[in-house]
Formats: sequence, C-alpha cells, structure tokens
Amino acid sequence: QELLHGVLPGAEVLVLSNREPYIHNRTDDGVVVQRPASGLVSALEPIMRACGGTWIAHGSGSADRDTVDAHDRIRVPEGSPAYALRRVWISEAEQDGYYYGFANEGLWPLCHIVFVRPSFRTDDWQMYQRINQRFADAVVAEARTEDPVVLVQDYHFALAPKMIRQRLPKATIISFWHIPWPNAETFSICPWRREIIEGMLGSTILGFHTQFHCNNFVECVDRFVESRIDREVQAVSLGGHETKIRAYPISIEWPPGALAGVPARDACRAEVMAKFDLAENTKVIVGVERFDYTKGIPDRMHAIDALLTRDPSWRERLVFIQVAAPTRSKLGAYSQLQSEAEDLASEINGRHAGGQSPIRLVARHYESSDVFKLFRAADVCVVSSLHDGMNLVAKEFVSCRDDNAGVLVLSSFTGAAREMSEALIVNPYDTEELAAAIKRAMTMPLDEQAERMKLMRQQVKENNVYRWAGTMLVDAARSRTRERIVALT
Ligand code: G6P
Repeated sequence: QELLHGVLPGAEVLVLSNREPYIHNRTDDGVVVQRPASGLVSALEPIMRACGGTWIAHGSGSADRDTVDAHDRIRVPEGSPAYALRRVWISEAEQDGYYYGFANEGLWPLCHIVFVRPSFRTDDWQMYQRINQRFADAVVAEARTEDPVVLVQDYHFALAPKMIRQRLPKATIISFWHIPWPNAETFSICPWRREIIEGMLGSTILGFHTQFHCNNFVECVDRFVESRIDREVQAVSLGGHETKIRAYPISIEWPPGALAGVPARDACRAEVMAKFDLAENTKVIVGVERFDYTKGIPDRMHAIDALLTRDPSWRERLVFIQVAAPTRSKLGAYSQLQSEAEDLASEINGRHAGGQSPIRLVARHYESSDVFKLFRAADVCVVSSLHDGMNLVAKEFVSCRDDNAGVLVLSSFTGAAREMSEALIVNPYDTEELAAAIKRAMTMPLDEQAERMKLMRQQVKENNVYRWAGTMLVDAARSRTRERIVALT
C-alpha cells in the first residue's frame, strides 16, 4: 500500500487478467487451492498483496463457483486476505474461441517466433471480442471511482483498454504485454491487426518487457493505423487520446515469499537426491516450465544427448530433471509436444542405458516451494526458450541461490538475457553450443560460479517486481497530474 499510496494517493487499483492468482479445485481430499504456473501471476500477486484492490480474472477451477460470494468475489490469499478476486465465468464454447482459439492459436504463435503457424478464424475473433467486452464490463462494474488505475494484463485483453476507456474516460489504464511483440512484417498477417492495435491504444501507458518490443509495436502503429507518432517521447495519439509506449522489464519479488519455508541448500540437495534416487556425486541439471513449445524443452534434451554421446564418461555423473507443467493440452501443438518430448526422453535414456537414467521428465505442476527446493539442489539450471518475453524462471533460480553457487544457462532469445549477462548465454537452436555450455556449467570452478551468481543476484534484487510496478505507477501518476493541469488551463 505504501508503494501505491506513495505515488498515487487515494487511487483505486483494478487488475484485469485471464489467469486468476488462486484456483480452487475439487479433489478427493476436498477443495484445494492451487497457484497457477504463470509468470504473470508470480509477478503481479506480490504487488496486489502489497496494494490491495480488486483482481478480475477468469474463474477456471472446478470449485471456483463454490467459494465466491453472491457477487462472485472472494478475498485472497486465504488466511491473510489482502485483496478481492472477482471471478468472471465463461462457457466452454467461449473459452474455445477466445482463449484456446484466438489468444493461444492466433496471438501466442504470432508474437513468439517459433515457427508454429498462427491460425486466425473469424469465429474465434468474434468470441475474443465478446469476452474482452465481458471483462471490460466487469472492470467498469467493479470500479467505485471514476478514475481508477486499471492494470490490464497480456494478450488475452488487447481490446479491453479501448472498451474500458469508452466507459471510464478518466481511468488511468496501464496495459502490460507479457509476451514479445513481433516486427511489422510478421504482425501484418493478423487479419485484425488494426483493431488489435487500436484496442491497445485505449491505454494511458502501454508496457513491454524490452525497448526492442516497444520499437516493433511503434513500427506496427506506423504501418497499420492512422495516428500521430511522437518518436522522441515514444507516444502515439489517436482520436485525441495519447498513449505512452514504455519498456518495463518484469521481475520477481525479492526474496520470493515462498522461499521462506524452504530449507537450506544441503537439506534440499539431500531431499532431491533421495527423491530421484541419485548417486552421491551426480551433477544435477534442472529445467522448470510450462510444457510449452516456446520453451525449447526438446532442444535441451538433444543437447544432453549430444553431450553424453561425445563423452560417455558423463553417463554416470549427470542427471537432467525437467519439470514441465502440462498447459493448454487441448491444443494439438501442445499435446504433440508433450508426447514427442516423452518419446525423446525414453529414446535418449535407452541410448545411454546402463546406469541411472540421465533424463527425468516430470510432466506435472510443482508448487513454488518444490520448485525452489529443486533450484537450491541444482548444479545447473537451463532456460533454453526459443523466444520469451522475459522468463522469470531465470530470475527465480538466482533468487534461490543465497549460497552463491549454481550456474544459469540462458537463451539469448529471452528478455532476461539482456539483464543477466553473467549467465552462460546460448543459442538454443545450436545443439553443440548448448551442450558445450551445459558441460562448462557443470565444470565451472566454485569461485567463478560465485562471482557470476553474486552479480546476477544483485541485479534481480535491485530490479525486483516492486521496481517494475513502481516505475509504471510513477509514470501513471505523472500522466494523471499532467492531465489535471491540462484540464485546468
Ligand atoms: C504466459 C502468459 C500468461 C499466462 C501464462 C500461463 O506467461 O503470458 O498470460 O497466464 O503464460 O499460461 P495459461 O494459458 O495457463 O494462463
């Protein structure tokens, strides 16, 4: 609250995102609460815990309806409620069109350069418009003031900023696009490119992870929308309304709240070694993500394969633990990736049989505290995304290493690589380079590990998620003051 009220005294905060921060599911043991595997949620949740307000999101859990009040609200987190979660319901057909269809088969592959062909279907687009309107209406209904600060999140809600602006013209709308933004040539294939951009330009401030993505967006505005662009101050004016385009590199809470209950390194190591039944001096390499084709999961398995083939003496000395939370499995590209990766893991394990299996693929969701244990236990963490807006796994890994040990191997195609240059930066498409980096990581002297780790920890500590949100809120406060002055003159 200090954060918010320091810069925007008295302002009301509303967050809009597709994914909700807490999902209630019905299980054999009763109702359980789950925290979803989502970079967006891990970044925004600590902010909402600090600021309070209302978070509007899709109610997606099997017990979600049973846990809300008559207004579809629930106070979260359980035990120490800090803000309201307002759930919005959507039918299966709507979910198919808006979420699976337009958002995840259209915009997701469009914005990530991973050579999965985007699909654009008119029905999906109509559903996307309809659901954007429903959520925009929910934001307006939740607002108690005429000028709230609305934080619109991600590619699910490109149209919502304009829709909210129409009903709440005085709102300060800060939109953040959590995934990359492609160049104009790539973006031009979207049949509704103008509508998407105009929707986003309803924002007061539009944020991306990197300056590169901001530049791509401005290029798209230039090509596809009739507007005035002021390149010097990076602002676009459309229909008398101005939007500032800014880079805000997203980050994590420092130290992450869930780290508090995680034991020190030796205990984590002992637990992981026992759990995976590993010989004492095994080098532990880990990867943790959603089972997504943007993450380069098969690519790192190929690198391990190449490493073991070249130097079979590693067979008994390394293990690669990949935790991959199933995601969007209804879509062909995702179910296919999962079965291909499973086949690849057994094929590689078969090829290098004899001792302990080198690849352990765990296709399920891990809660943060288990992920953090794995990070503390590891010698190496591999983040080999083929394309990623930021990648918070890289930042979470270093946040766990208060022993200043462990090596991060990081794809150059992540936003994080621009901030964490002390990682071993690699091109994940180059199997040989990735294999060499993993080997170098496993054999890196402890003092070099410590030097690199200290610098990365310092960087993430200073540029934590409160700075991410704080900078956006300070910019929002400036805009509000300016607008008030202009209105007076
Ligand atoms: C990415 C997106 C988020 C999304 C998350 C998990 O980080 O930018 O918006 O929440 O993936 O994906 P899901 O489809 O499960 O919400």
